[in-house]
Amino acid sequence: MTETLWYAGRGTGVVSLVLLTIVVALGIGARSGRTAFGLPRFAVNMLHRNAALLALVLLAGHVGSLYFDPYAQLRLVDVVLPFTGAYRPFWLGLGTLGFDLILALVASSLLRHRLGARSWRIVHWLAYLCWPVALMHGLQTGSDGDSWWLRTVLALCAALVLAAVAWRLSSPFTQFPARVTRRVRALQETR
Ligand code: HEM
Repeated sequence: MTETLWYAGRGTGVVSLVLLTIVVALGIGARSGRTAFGLPRFAVNMLHRNAALLALVLLAGHVGSLYFDPYAQLRLVDVVLPFTGAYRPFWLGLGTLGFDLILALVASSLLRHRLGARSWRIVHWLAYLCWPVALMHGLQTGSDGDSWWLRTVLALCAALVLAAVAWRLSSPFTQFPARVTRRVRALQETR
């Protein structure tokens, strides 16, 4: 049983990190206002949101299985309060911090209409902090940190996020649908 919990904890950890990587890339893609993989803008947005919710479910599985795994010696407080754990406290704490940030990102997105666009956007910038924090946790906490396969997966994740961020910072990044551009132009002409 202990072995099963340990395998489940590691597996869900890796899949969560891959999903978070995809969520960041899709978020940047959605923000660009472009279509992707032949999907319209709203579908890219929905994919981004649903991938984030799936990552949260997997993370709950990751934390849950490792909580019951006696080797990790997790206490309830380690799940919410960073850097208090008995097992590799700093690197484990990065996982807890990442988890807290994801909870804040998901909660603020679900309450977006009440929060307002400006506050929601400020919280959403935390995604850029959350992803590297989660990556370092995955690399340094897990039993597979030295294995070639985990390093390859994490290197591919890092390459995808770096490419997406470089694109985000590049000059003609946003592209809005023609009807939006037409409406903005019409508004400018009436002024
Ligand atoms: C952003 C959230 C998180 C992500 C993406 C994540 C991801 C990962 C990954 C990829 C691993 C490496 C698995 C392996 O070596 O095969 C790992 C290990 C681990 N994580 Fe997380 N994690 C997160 C949050 C947490 C939290 C909140 C806790 C508990 C407080 C936690 C506890 C652990 C432990 C104990 C290990 C070591 C498992 C082992 O024995 O190998 N993680 N995590």
